[in-house]
Amino acid sequence: MSLQLAPTARYRKDYKPPSFNILSVDLQFYLHDTNTRVVNTMQIERQVEGADLVLDGEKFELVSVVLNDTPLVAGQDYQWSETALTIYNAPEQFSLTIENKINPSANTALEGLYKSAGVFCSQCEAEGFRFITYFLDRPDVLAVYTTTIYAPDNGEYPYLLSNGNKLAEGKTENGLHWAKWHDPFPKPCYLFALVAGNFDCLEDSFTTAEGRLVQLQLFVDKGNLSQAGFAMASLKNSMAWDEKRFGLSYDLDIYMIVAVDFFNMGAMENKGLNVFNAKYVLADPASATDQDFINVEAVIGHEYFHNWTGNRVTCRDWFQLSLKEGLTVFREQEFSADMGMRAVNRIQDVRIIRTHQFEEDAGPTAHAIRPDKVVEMNNFYTVTIYNKGAEVVRMLHTLLGEEQFQAGIQEYISQQDGKAATCEDFVQAMEKVSGKELIQFRRWYSQPGTPEISISSCFKRRNKTFSITIAQASDKPSNAPFHIPIKVEFITASGESIHPPELAENGLIELTEPIQTFDFTGFNEAPVVAPLANFSAPVKLTDHRESSELITITRYATDPFLRWDAVQQLYVQALKDAIEQNAEVALPSALIEALQAALLDNHADPAMTALLLQTPSEEGLATEFHSIPVEGIERVVTELHALLSRALHDELIAAWQRTSAQYVASDIAGRMLSNTCINFLSSRHNSEQVAQAISQQFAAKQSMTLVFGALQAAVHNEHPLAKELLARFESDWCQAPLVMDKWLAVQATTRSAHTLERVQLLMAHPAFNWGNPNRIYALLASFSHNFSQLHRADGAGYRLLIAAIKRLNTANPQVASRLLSPLLKWQRLDTTRQALLRELLTELRAMPNLAPDLFEKIEQSFAD
Ligand code: TRP
Ligand code: ZN
Repeated sequence: MSLQLAPTARYRKDYKPPSFNILSVDLQFYLHDTNTRVVNTMQIERQVEGADLVLDGEKFELVSVVLNDTPLVAGQDYQWSETALTIYNAPEQFSLTIENKINPSANTALEGLYKSAGVFCSQCEAEGFRFITYFLDRPDVLAVYTTTIYAPDNGEYPYLLSNGNKLAEGKTENGLHWAKWHDPFPKPCYLFALVAGNFDCLEDSFTTAEGRLVQLQLFVDKGNLSQAGFAMASLKNSMAWDEKRFGLSYDLDIYMIVAVDFFNMGAMENKGLNVFNAKYVLADPASATDQDFINVEAVIGHEYFHNWTGNRVTCRDWFQLSLKEGLTVFREQEFSADMGMRAVNRIQDVRIIRTHQFEEDAGPTAHAIRPDKVVEMNNFYTVTIYNKGAEVVRMLHTLLGEEQFQAGIQEYISQQDGKAATCEDFVQAMEKVSGKELIQFRRWYSQPGTPEISISSCFKRRNKTFSITIAQASDKPSNAPFHIPIKVEFITASGESIHPPELAENGLIELTEPIQTFDFTGFNEAPVVAPLANFSAPVKLTDHRESSELITITRYATDPFLRWDAVQQLYVQALKDAIEQNAEVALPSALIEALQAALLDNHADPAMTALLLQTPSEEGLATEFHSIPVEGIERVVTELHALLSRALHDELIAAWQRTSAQYVASDIAGRMLSNTCINFLSSRHNSEQVAQAISQQFAAKQSMTLVFGALQAAVHNEHPLAKELLARFESDWCQAPLVMDKWLAVQATTRSAHTLERVQLLMAHPAFNWGNPNRIYALLASFSHNFSQLHRADGAGYRLLIAAIKRLNTANPQVASRLLSPLLKWQRLDTTRQALLRELLTELRAMPNLAPDLFEKIEQSFAD
C-alpha cells in the first residue's frame, strides 16, 4: 500500500450553509502563458459568529492578502495549506484582495484556466474555480462578477471574453489591451468563464417575446465560419422553443458561444458565455454525419436551457447535480423531439439508459440520482445523474401531464429564482401545483438500482374481466418499493386495441406496492398486454414472453416504442437462449417475415425500419447477465448479424437500392436505412454487387453520413475493401482532426482479433494526440466499449487500457477516470479475467500520486 493520504469523502447529510457570503467579486487577469497574475477583490459578509474564513485554492502561487486595505501577515493573520487559505478574526463585513499567479500552459487537466492551441480558456464546473484564485468554491455562494482581462496586444488575442455585458475596453501604455465585463446576475463561481484568443465570429440576433434584442456571437477557429451556421440556427431555435414550450426567455443583451479544440466534456453553460467542445459546434454535410448535426442541436439546446435550469436557479450543493442536469437533459430531449423525429429520439434515449445506465446501476459505482457520498465530484457527471435524472423528470411529467408539469416548472422558478435549490424544492413545487402526493415518488432520488417488473394476468370469460398483477423487485435488497408509472396497451390477437373503462385515458397505471393487481372489464378474449409504452419508467421487464405475443405487439401496438421494443425483446431472448443452451441463434420466422416486409414497404418510415434492424450490442447484452459470459456474447452477436444478413439479403439489397437512389436528396431517415442495409450486406465478402454498393456509397462525397456509413460497414465487417477505403478516407481528411476522430473510432470499435494491435499502432499515428481529450475518446474510449476485444482472454485489452490510464493519471485525471469505468465490473467476469483485472487494478491503486478520481472508483470496485 502507498503511504499517500486517502482522499476524503463528503456526505450529503453534512451540508451546512456557508459561514461567510461573498457578495461581489472584482477580478483582474493579466494573461501570460506561464505566469498569469490574478487580482481578486471580494466583498464578504460574515454569516456565522466566530467562524474562520476558509477559502478554497489549489495549485497556484499566493502573492499577497489584503483586508480592507491592510496587508495581512502570513502565520499571524492567515495560514495556507495545499488546498485552503484560512483568515483569522475576519470582521462582519470587509473587502479582501488576493493576488496570486497561475501557469495556464502547464494545465493539461483542462480544469481552471488553461492555455491550449493558442487560446486561454476556463472550465470551472464542478470545482475548478479554486485553481484560479482563492474563493468559496461551492455552488451556494452567489456573487456578482466584474472581470477585467489584460492581454498582450500582439494580435494573438483580439477577443477578450467573460460573462455578462462588456462595459469598456482599451489599451495600456505597456503594450497590453483590456476588456472589462460585468454580469448583473449573481452566480456561483462554477459559472464563471474567461476566454482569450483569435477567432472568426458569426454574428446574429434574436428578439425575445418581451422584445429584448439579444446579440448572438459564435466564435470558432479561424477558417471555420462555413461550419458554424447550423449551430447558430440551433441556438435561435432553442431560444424560440424555450419561450413557446416553457415560457422562458433569455435575460442578458448578449449570448456568446466559443468553440474550443481542447475540452474534457461536451460543453459548459457559463452565464452568457458558453464554452463548447468544437465537435458540438462545427458541422457541414460533407464533414459531419447526420448524428453529428443532431448532437450539435441537442448540446446547443442543452447549454442554452441551463440558463434557467442551472444558472438562474442553481444547485445548493453538488449532491443536487441532477436537479439541473436531469431537468436540462429532459428539456433537451423534448426540444430535439419537437424539432425532429420524436419516436426515433425516444428509442435512442432508451438505448442509452438500457446499455449504459443499467450497466452503471449493476456495477460498483451505482449511485442514486441524488448521491449521498462523493469523493471526487468529477466522477458524478454520469449517465445516472444525467439520463436517469431525465427519466425521473419525465416520470413526473407522465404522472402530472404537460399542463400541471409546466405549472410546476413556473412555481419552481418563481420560488427559486436567484437561489441555490435542492431536488426536494423541485418535487415540492410539482406537489404544490398538482396536489399529487409524491412522498413515495421521492425514492427515485434516494435509492440507486434498477427496479425489475414482472406481470401476470388472469382472464375470466364468464364476467369478461381481465386482471393484471404487477410485481416489483430491486437489484438492491435494501430498496423500498418505488412509485412506478406504467403505461399499458391491451391488444387482441387480431390486432384490435382495447381500452377498458377502468384504464385512464392515457393508459397510465400507478404501481406503488411490491405486488398489486389491477382489474379491468369488457374483454371478450384475453388480450396481449403491452407494458411500458413510451418507456414510461426506467425499469427492466423480466418476464420471458411468448414470441407470438411479442409479434402481436410489433404489428399492432399504437406506440412506436412498444413496437420497437417487442423486436428488441425477441432479439434478446434469442441471444440469451442460444447462450444458455449453447445452441445456434434462431429467430422466430414471424420476426424474419416482419423484417422482410418492413424492408420492402415503400410507405414504412425508413428510420423505424433501421431501428428495428438495430440488434443488441455486446455491451447491451452483457447487462442481461449477472455473470457475464464473454465468449458466448461474442459468438451469438456475430451469429445474429450473419443470420440477418443471410435471411434478409434480397430485401436489404432492394431497400438499399431504393434509399440510395435518392442519396443526398433522401432525408436523415433514408440515410439511416441505407447505412443499416450496407452494414448487413458488407458481411458478404464475395458479392460483386455488394462491393459495388459499398464503393458507390463511399463515393457520395457530399454526405459524410453516407461516406462514413460505407467506411464503417466495410471496416466492421472486415470486407476486402476496408483497407483501401481507410487509406482514402485518411488522405481525404488528414487535415481535419474531428473527421479523423471518426477514422480512429471506426477502427477501435471493430470486433476483430486484430483490433488491439491496430489500436496500439494508432496511438503512434499523427492523428492521435495524448493531450487532446477528443482524440483519446475517439481511440481509447471507443476501444473501452469494444466489449469482446477489451475482454480478450489474454488480458491484452486490459493492459492496454490500464497503461493509458496510468499515463493520464496526472496529466488529465478526468479523462483517465472515464476510461476506467468499463474495467470496474470485474466481479461479474469469469475467474481468469477477474484475476487479470484484480492484479492490474491493485497495481494501479498503488501508483504514487493516484488521482482521487481513480482512487474513488477502484475502492468502490473492491468494496463489495
Ligand atoms: N454542466 C456541463 C453540461 O451539462 C457539464 C460539464 C462541462 C462539465 N464541462 C465539465 C462537468 C467539466 C464537469 C467538468 O453540459
Ligand atoms: Zn448540463
